[in-house]
Amino acid sequence: MARIIAGMGTSHVPGLGAAMDNGKTQEAYWQPVFKGLEPLRSWHRDHVPDVTIIVYNDHATAIALDNYATFTLGVAEQFLPADEGWGRRNVPTVQGHPELAWHLVESLVMDEFDLAVSGDLDVDHGLTVPLSIAYDQPEIWPTRVIPLAVNVIQYPQPTSLRCFKLGQAIRRAVDAFPDDITVGIWGTGGLSHQLGGERVGVVNPEFDTQFLDNLVSDPMANTRLTHTDFFREAGCEGIEMIMWNVMRGALNDRVSEAYRFYHIPVSATAYGAIILENP
Ligand code: DHB
Ligand code: FE
Repeated sequence: MARIIAGMGTSHVPGLGAAMDNGKTQEAYWQPVFKGLEPLRSWHRDHVPDVTIIVYNDHATAIALDNYATFTLGVAEQFLPADEGWGRRNVPTVQGHPELAWHLVESLVMDEFDLAVSGDLDVDHGLTVPLSIAYDQPEIWPTRVIPLAVNVIQYPQPTSLRCFKLGQAIRRAVDAFPDDITVGIWGTGGLSHQLGGERVGVVNPEFDTQFLDNLVSDPMANTRLTHTDFFREAGCEGIEMIMWNVMRGALNDRVSEAYRFYHIPVSATAYGAIILENP
């Protein structure tokens, strides 16, 4: 039987990927960030699952705003890094897991989560930067990946609770997959940040820290956060944090925190990462 071994939440700041791609990780600005990622990367070296479900958002890169679903699951054999305006990132092609992906589609639809299904999906920084954060610069990504795109960019976005319930449904689906494989699940985006408008540059460490604490000890508190709470407290793009609720919903009620890292600023964001293990 398949089983979920752990979850990770991480910001997906594109500048982090660019720093790696352009050999700038030892520059003064980036050095403390990559230093903070060392224990995270060491954990990932020791815990590579067969498949990782990466809950991310496409930033209107590969999914056009006139055809945008609330949830989109990628069932392809492979996913190319998307061209976000300056060519595809020079990182490995993401290898999918169609068998588990189609099982998820069937199981989730039967469980009343009516997803869009994509067999042709380029993946933007929302998905490739977390892979770079976890695995640095390998020849091939060590885990297969199932992309799960969430609409966080166009009104109306799903609620925090809906995202958590999707995670619970993913857990039921994985538990029912007959193959003996290990599965990881990541939520990406956030933490507090606002990239434009009057309040550009908003970061809110108190809000972020409470959110991270809640992931460990009171996950349902995070499911009560409204979109307005995110906009007000965490800036417009802070709503990306709802994707961490999908990850949390797929884990055990009680989890143990293996690592946490929080750093301000990374680009315009409060960078945050957390690893949660299913005991
Ligand atoms: C930044 C953060 C994001 O989450 C994103 O999608 C794009 C840019 C940033 O802080 O630069
Ligand atoms: Fe983003």
